[in-house]
Amino acid sequence: MCGIVGYTGPQQAGKILLEGLHLLEYRGYDSAGIAVLKDDKLKVIKKEGKVARLEEQLKKEDSLGNCGIAHTRWATHGKPSDANAHPHTGCDSDFAVIHNGIIENYAELKARLQKNGHYFTSETDTEVIAHMVEEAYQGDLYVAVRSVAQQLVGAYAIAVVSIHEPDKIVAVRQETPLLIGLGNKEKILASDPSALVKYTKKYWRLENGEMAVITPESAEAFVIASGEKIDKKIQEIDWDIDEAQRSGFDHYMRKEIDEQPEVIENTLRGRFAKDGTISLPEFDDVAETLRQARKINIVACGTSYHAGLVGKYLLENLCSIPVEADIASEFRYRNPLMGDKDVVLVISQSGETADTLAAVRLAKQKGVPVIGIVNVVNSSIAAECDAVTYLHAGPEIGVASTKAYVSQLVLLMLMALYLAQLRNVEFDASEIVADIPKLSGYASELLQQEQKIIQVAELMKNKGNCFFIGRLLDYAVVLEGALKLKEISYIHAEAKAAGELKHGALALVEDGTPIVTAVTQDSIRDKMHSSIMEVKARGGSIILVTDKPEQAQDIADTLIPIPKVSSYLSPILSIIPLQLLSYHAAVLRGNNPDRPRNLAKSVTVE
Ligand code: M6R
Repeated sequence: MCGIVGYTGPQQAGKILLEGLHLLEYRGYDSAGIAVLKDDKLKVIKKEGKVARLEEQLKKEDSLGNCGIAHTRWATHGKPSDANAHPHTGCDSDFAVIHNGIIENYAELKARLQKNGHYFTSETDTEVIAHMVEEAYQGDLYVAVRSVAQQLVGAYAIAVVSIHEPDKIVAVRQETPLLIGLGNKEKILASDPSALVKYTKKYWRLENGEMAVITPESAEAFVIASGEKIDKKIQEIDWDIDEAQRSGFDHYMRKEIDEQPEVIENTLRGRFAKDGTISLPEFDDVAETLRQARKINIVACGTSYHAGLVGKYLLENLCSIPVEADIASEFRYRNPLMGDKDVVLVISQSGETADTLAAVRLAKQKGVPVIGIVNVVNSSIAAECDAVTYLHAGPEIGVASTKAYVSQLVLLMLMALYLAQLRNVEFDASEIVADIPKLSGYASELLQQEQKIIQVAELMKNKGNCFFIGRLLDYAVVLEGALKLKEISYIHAEAKAAGELKHGALALVEDGTPIVTAVTQDSIRDKMHSSIMEVKARGGSIILVTDKPEQAQDIADTLIPIPKVSSYLSPILSIIPLQLLSYHAAVLRGNNPDRPRNLAKSVTVE
């Protein structure tokens, strides 16, 4: 859940590491720190708070040097503080360590080290690694780090530097992501490619149980357990640094909302033909399994889970296949009953979410095939699925997921059509097939309604509490709308299936309570209108997203019209005004939507 970066080469390490921290800050912003080697000395500078605070400090101190490591922290063990910030050193400051993950056996290791006379200055699990390396070092940093890694239990991406081998970084990986950028006479390591791409597009992705030793001139990879050298495959980043930056928008989230028309096109490209034929060759190897599948279990977290709820509805209704949708952290512990001919479908933007990854492993342990919908290519989840299809949504930096969600919905629709074709399920797909090519243009039109949505956000910005209601696919959408609002604006937002309101939550509706609702499903439109009247009668102020505004004039206090498409596709459009609403409510309340408190982009711990 933290971001790590390391550099060794001819340039000023401090500058490159700082740039990397800014790019990785979405992974955690409780503290940031840097360790740079110069003249046989290790300079460690670290600060609680955002990278900007560290940057201020660096202006006051000398952090020159050509090799170093840096870290931006999302706290697990120990509160956010200067002392708990990484890098951590041993007793003598000869070694510095950064770490993303959790060392599960740290208490036991710490007790042993304390008995041997080591003193600790932080509450972190990471500090044990620095002391262990210090104890193990006998003239070869690789040997010392390898022996330490063999004693660690848990999840980790670690990088270590030492004054004894001043241009070398040794890195190990177990469970959390770590990439090694292979520049010409310089090497850079990072948790994700955005921190590499300015310097090199060529990289290795370390796998579980692997480690690397880098110097400006060389990079070597080894299996931790055996010490055997690995001939790693070089991979190429196929996007540019500009794509990972804000392109003039105030926030990544707003930029990513704006990219959605293009993302819809990118997700469809090469997969959807105008006659409705779907091409997903990445599933060729599992096509027979999918054709015969008896049940699909969709597993994901957060926004990806909400996409999964839409997927459940599409797959059940269009492919006549039973689908369960599970939150990954529940799935992995609830002992799910899965039998012969079940398939697990995991959905993840980052491809690194720990609970989703655990669900993949559980399913595979039970002999159940796992397919994935993932955004980040070569991520851990992608690597462990039997087959994976990628969103092609580009890097999503804002913590609040927007374009990845829309892309997930598009891809789930394609999967539903693909499965229906594979399983010879006949239904009239003509409306869906005719509407799919219009989605991108309609999404652009919706972005034009921003001024109106800012007015709604103005009305909501001082509210402490609101409800989101919907039915069927609209219920799935309002769950996501409520999550967006609460995570970045900090307004309490509760999503309810509209028919369920009167079973309890209605008691909380009073004069002026905002009720955000989506009404796009023809089969229950009248019932939805009745539910809205019930809350309106109790004083609720109705903000209504609908594809038939002419039928809702008298019901809504604020009407947000969206283009009319097949009700199966409407979530792809109806979420867009809700994303804008959350964004503007957050900004009006003075929050930074890209960095919501207590949250991180990639949840790589349980
Ligand atoms: O990377 P993933 O899709 O696996 O992430 C799952 C959730 O952590 C994520 O969707 C989270 O809920 C969103 N960032 C909220 O906007």
